[in-house]
Amino acid sequence: MLTAEQLGFRYAGVPVLRGVDLHVGAASMVAVTGPNGCGKSTLLHLLAGVETPAEGAVRHPAGTRLSLLPQRTPDIDGLPLTVAECVRIGRFTPRRRLGRHDRAAVTEIMERLDLAHLARRRLRELSGGQRQRTLIAQALVQQADVYLLDEPTAALDAASRARVHELLGERVRAGAAMVVASHDAGEAALAGAIVTLASPL
Ligand SMILES: Nc1ncnc2c1ncn2[C@@H]1O[C@H](COP(=O)(O)OP(=O)(O)OP(=O)(O)O)[C@@H](O)[C@H]1O
Ligand SMILES: [Mg+2]
Repeated sequence: MLTAEQLGFRYAGVPVLRGVDLHVGAASMVAVTGPNGCGKSTLLHLLAGVETPAEGAVRHPAGTRLSLLPQRTPDIDGLPLTVAECVRIGRFTPRRRLGRHDRAAVTEIMERLDLAHLARRRLRELSGGQRQRTLIAQALVQQADVYLLDEPTAALDAASRARVHELLGERVRAGAAMVVASHDAGEAALAGAIVTLASPL
């Protein structure tokens, strides 16, 4: 579903990744682990196409739908979005209104992530964990082939983390490919394979 070959990346000439290989097939999960600053977020940005590799290539079949949950998204707190609107955005596609299935998917994921009672709150009025659950909902409500999740549960309490893990398992069993960056050994153990990046170059 998604393959990275011999990826290399530099920020302003400073090397961050070198010779990274990764493959994630349909219905499987790969965890990306390694210490702070080793390049996990950078790798996810390369896989998502947000950044362009300096060396190597990212390949996936034409038309592959990718959903990225970034680690940091400070800019969206300035937008006047409610929780419900933020989740709904996950189902937006060009030239089509949201239909019954879209609305049902939004309602379901909001219930599963305990967001229904927060539906009309603005993002900036949420706790860190509530905000993170909203963004996870937006990422998982998408009908993606590949989900790229950057430390999805780092800010979550144990019950919320368990709910998210249940949802990830369901998406994978339904055929999705998933790449999850994590510092949590338990979370990484959910994956069929673990890519560990070395300490910062
Ligand atoms: N926009 C940027 N400009 C310059 N250097 C950057 C930029 N973003 C990240 N870096 C550097 O690139 C390296 C990799 O950063 P990255 O965020 O990918 O690490 P990470 O493994 O995700 O770390 P963490 O576990 O803290 O999330 C770090 O040394 C970081 O300082
Ligand atoms: Mg990171």
